[in-house]
Amino acid sequence: MAGLPKTKDDRTVTTTSQSDFKAEIEVIRSQTVAYSTDPEFHATWLGLTTKSTNLRAQQARAFGTLVGSVTKSLAGWRILDVGCGDGYWLRAFVELDAVPEHLIGIDVSDVLFEFARAKNPLITLRQTDGINIPYEDGCFDLVTQFVVFSAMPSAALRTQVAGEMSRVVKPGGFVFWWDLLTLPSADLNKSLCPSDYFDWPVREFAVGKLPRPSECLQHPERHGTFVAGLDRLGHPATHTAALIGPKP
Ligand SMILES: C[S@@+](CC[C@H](N)C(=O)[O-])C[C@H]1O[C@@H](n2cnc3c(N)ncnc32)[C@H](O)[C@@H]1O
Repeated sequence: MAGLPKTKDDRTVTTTSQSDFKAEIEVIRSQTVAYSTDPEFHATWLGLTTKSTNLRAQQARAFGTLVGSVTKSLAGWRILDVGCGDGYWLRAFVELDAVPEHLIGIDVSDVLFEFARAKNPLITLRQTDGINIPYEDGCFDLVTQFVVFSAMPSAALRTQVAGEMSRVVKPGGFVFWWDLLTLPSADLNKSLCPSDYFDWPVREFAVGKLPRPSECLQHPERHGTFVAGLDRLGHPATHTAALIGPKP
C-alpha cells in the first residue's frame, strides 16, 4: 500500500458543477472565518472544557466501535478526511497507526487550513471543495467526514459531495460519518441521515454527549427491558455516527 493516492489529471477534472455551488461555498468559507475567531467555538473544539472533552471522547468511541468492527488497525490504510478543518482527525489517525504519508485532508477554508498546515507537516492538505475531489476513482480505503454535511447549506451540495466521496472510495472500502442528528438553522429539525446520501449498507447509531447509562453496565444484555428504561435517564442524542460500506 505504498505511495500516495493518484491525483486526477487536471485535464480530466470536471468543473462544470463547481459554478452551481459557488455561492454556497462562499457561505461556508465566510462561516469558518467568523467562527475561527469566536472564543466559544475555540473552547468547544480545542479547549479543555467539559464540552470539548466529552465531544472528542464520544467521537473516538464511535469511530473505534464502527471502524474497529472492520479492522483492528489503520496501518496501511489510505484515508481522505473531507472538511478536515485544522486536521484534528488526521492527527488522530496517525495516533491510531495510520502512516502520515497515506493521509490526505481537504477543506475549503483558508483560515482553518493555516492551522492545519502548521499542525500536520507530514500530511498532504489541499485547499479545495468536495465538489470535484481531485483524486482518481477508488483510491482510498476510508473517506471520513466529521460535521461537514451539516455545514453545507443545500441538499444538492451534500448530494454532490457524497457522490464524490463514494467515487474515490475503493471497492470494499468505507465512509465514516459523524454529524449532527438534525440540520442547523434554516432547516431546523430536519434530520440529517447518511442513508439519504449513500446507497451502500449503513451501520449507524445515535450518540449523546456522554455514553448511555447502559454502556457502563458490565453485562447490559442480562438486564432486558430495564436497559431501555435506564437509557431514558441518560443524555439525549445529538449526533449520528455511521459506517457506510463496504462499497460494492
Ligand atoms: C465544523 S467544521 C469541522 C472540521 C473538522 N472536520 C473537525 O471535526 O474538526 C466543518 C468544516 O467543513 C468544511 N467544509 C464544509 N463544506 C465543505 C466542502 N464542500 N468541501 C470541503 N470542506 C468543506 C468547512 O470549511 C469546515 O472547516
